[in-house]
Amino acid sequence: MWRQTALTRLLGIEYPIIQAGMAGGPTTPALVAAVSEAGGLGSIGAGYLTPDALGTQIEAVRGLTARPFCVNLFVPQRPEVDADGAAAAQDWLNGVRERLGLSPAAAPSAVELQRMLDDSAARFDAQVEVAVAARVPVIQVTFGAPEPALVDRLHDAGIRVLGSATSVSEAIALEAVGVDAITVQGSEAGGHRGTFLGSELSALVGTMALVPQAVDRVRVPVVAAGGIMDGRGIVAALALGASGVQMGTAFLACAESGAHPLHKAAVLACEDTGTVLTNIFSGKLARGIRNELTEAGAAGVPVAPYPIQNQFTQDIRKASAAQRDAGYLSMWAGQAAGLARSVSAAEQMAQLVAEVEQVLGRIEMGVNG
Ligand SMILES: Cc1cc2nc3c(=O)[nH]c(=O)nc-3n(C[C@H](O)[C@H](O)[C@H](O)COP(=O)(O)O)c2cc1C
Repeated sequence: MWRQTALTRLLGIEYPIIQAGMAGGPTTPALVAAVSEAGGLGSIGAGYLTPDALGTQIEAVRGLTARPFCVNLFVPQRPEVDADGAAAAQDWLNGVRERLGLSPAAAPSAVELQRMLDDSAARFDAQVEVAVAARVPVIQVTFGAPEPALVDRLHDAGIRVLGSATSVSEAIALEAVGVDAITVQGSEAGGHRGTFLGSELSALVGTMALVPQAVDRVRVPVVAAGGIMDGRGIVAALALGASGVQMGTAFLACAESGAHPLHKAAVLACEDTGTVLTNIFSGKLARGIRNELTEAGAAGVPVAPYPIQNQFTQDIRKASAAQRDAGYLSMWAGQAAGLARSVSAAEQMAQLVAEVEQVLGRIEMGVNG
């Protein structure tokens, strides 16, 4: 029975389908709760939330569903502070600001850059405190392996811990710190690459290649992510040995998603070649829909490391959204965005389940197509 896997047993869910945490607004409590109510695992994309806002969202989700849900967090990054490099990045972005009618931004000092990194690390610690105090059912971390002591602490609080890997070696490292399941993110995936070992550019393994290799090397359940949009993709992932799927783009265009309307429209209109990998928005490689800023950023311009570049571009992304100009928005989406559908999350879940059953029926009958 495809519905019951090591993942569904681990998380106490009905279907092995995780709605990816998507930081920055798409994962409203309504979306998260609707996916969980429909038998999947809804996830709050909490990476950029203040601890208070996270607490409010957890309460809101709990007000809508009694079923398990997940909180998705970013392991803090500690790049070396380089004030000259950051000044060059800020200077280039000032050209973009000019086009949007924004005032130029000053280059921060080394002390200010260090404070940004410290604040980001402190926010992670505070988010964890909120999630532990609320005894959320599941926490997923990305951008790194959590400290083993943190995993133990979450387990002691009765919280299941999911990791996120972009290579077999990262999956092995996550298993070693004690996570309960690992999402492996193929290069088709929308959003940030979670790469934390080796270079981002060498960890661009496709989902089809990554899933079976990860499954062969770790004992915990593996969840496939990247380019999975419908029942065909789910069956393919399960056939490769995954215990479930994690889908982001497929839930972006849903009615309950808080993605900007321009972002939703771009996802629905996106073609197979419409996405690119870029670090221009945040300093970390991410897949999104090609626009003016990704094109300009592809020309080898100076970029500060994450999370500094992400802070630098905040006013640009905000102005772009307010001016309803999709040219400077980060519109994260995976390579199969063209298969997205504009439905409610409950309809999406029902359709996914029906499609899996149809595909399995066709395979059983030996019918192709
Ligand atoms: C808009 C968007 C935002 C995302 N934000 C996050 C995030 O905050 N945390 C995370 O672990 N993954 C994030 N991801 C990546 C997803 O976890 C997942 O790897 C990806 O969506 C899978 O590929 P797909 O988009 O083709 O389904 C995001 C993806 C998208 C499309």
